[in-house]
Amino acid sequence: MTERVVLAYSGGLDTSVAIGWIAAERDAEVVAVAIDVGQGGEDLDAIRDRALACGAVESLVVDARAEFADDYCLPALRANALYMDRYPLVSALSRPLIVKHLAAAARSTGATAVAHGCTGKGNDQVRFEVGLGALAPDLAVLAPVRDSGMTRDKAIAFAEERGLPIDVTKRSPYSVDQNLWGRAVETGFLEDPWHAPVEDLYSYTASPAVERAPDEVVVTFADGVPTALDGRALDVLAIVQQMNERAGAQGIGRLDMVEDRLVGIKSREVYEAPGALALITAHQELETLTVERDLARYKRQVEQRWSELVYDGLWFSPLRRALDAFVDTASAHVTGEVRMTLHGGRAVPTGRRSDVSLYDYGLATYDSDDTFDQTLAKGFVDLWGLPSRIAATRDAKAGGTP
Ligand code: ARG
Repeated sequence: MTERVVLAYSGGLDTSVAIGWIAAERDAEVVAVAIDVGQGGEDLDAIRDRALACGAVESLVVDARAEFADDYCLPALRANALYMDRYPLVSALSRPLIVKHLAAAARSTGATAVAHGCTGKGNDQVRFEVGLGALAPDLAVLAPVRDSGMTRDKAIAFAEERGLPIDVTKRSPYSVDQNLWGRAVETGFLEDPWHAPVEDLYSYTASPAVERAPDEVVVTFADGVPTALDGRALDVLAIVQQMNERAGAQGIGRLDMVEDRLVGIKSREVYEAPGALALITAHQELETLTVERDLARYKRQVEQRWSELVYDGLWFSPLRRALDAFVDTASAHVTGEVRMTLHGGRAVPTGRRSDVSLYDYGLATYDSDDTFDQTLAKGFVDLWGLPSRIAATRDAKAGGTP
């Protein structure tokens, strides 16, 4: 029987060429699978047809937008997930979902291998292969760009030789990956970390420098799940989409950073994630009102570890699942509303309220309705400082300065 290979298909040059490349190299049938994770841009029917025109025996398109929002973006939001304190894991989040659908497509089409178009220098190869290893360890993995010499020049030559329906001249000088949670731009002149990003790199965000009226938004959360914008109930997908529009229009969510890749390379990255970063800002703000101090402090460590695991391709790991259980528990009272002004590239919280708030007006106020017993403070401060005083006394006896 002819070998069948499922290919993660984007519609771009590399994966279009990979169809014929894999078919020729292995005498295999290639099933192209394009996953809609909210990347927008080109129509997916056109992408489906292109795969067939490039020689795929079957071409599937999966609308995974709601699943991506609910099962991947939402856990990231509740974990305030920011790799290196900045990057909201845009590409890292989509890969496990794509892997899940590739494995399912392999099962339904009788394929015995899965192929991807990643290079050997990035994180995405790791995320694909480690994910597949966890979900479908029996499937072989093919990586023609990395393992069988399918370089850029050879891909262009291959496409021209075979008359593949791809306009190689329209190719972007950057490597772009985008989805509902944001957009990543790499390579080209950005490879010099001193080169400033130019305006036409961006497509999810308008320039924050342009004069415009501010936008005010109220985000409602229930147990850490965003449920409404300006009082209108919406599902997570619609909330992220609308926040992308509104925060994007105010130039919010642009990042320019040097990132530590898993393979050890430092890489210059430009991102725009208007919805993700505005929602994380709102979520963090509501947590300040509703999460108890020690839980909040501990959660920050969990958030960092969660982000590193997902960045490093370990979505399908026992630790990520266990940390998600922690985040779930910690989100139990993250219920209420946050008001933000979106303007000049920033989402600035201006109000927060909750029926399960830990903010106690009587304890906080300096007015006459103060309920805080200040006589307790003196003894508290004495005992709190006791270990420092004892140590300082010892140091002074030994002639040292504390
Ligand atoms: N450096 C980012 C990450 O590892 C973005 C990767 C984008 N992928 C791409 N093929 N351009 O998550």
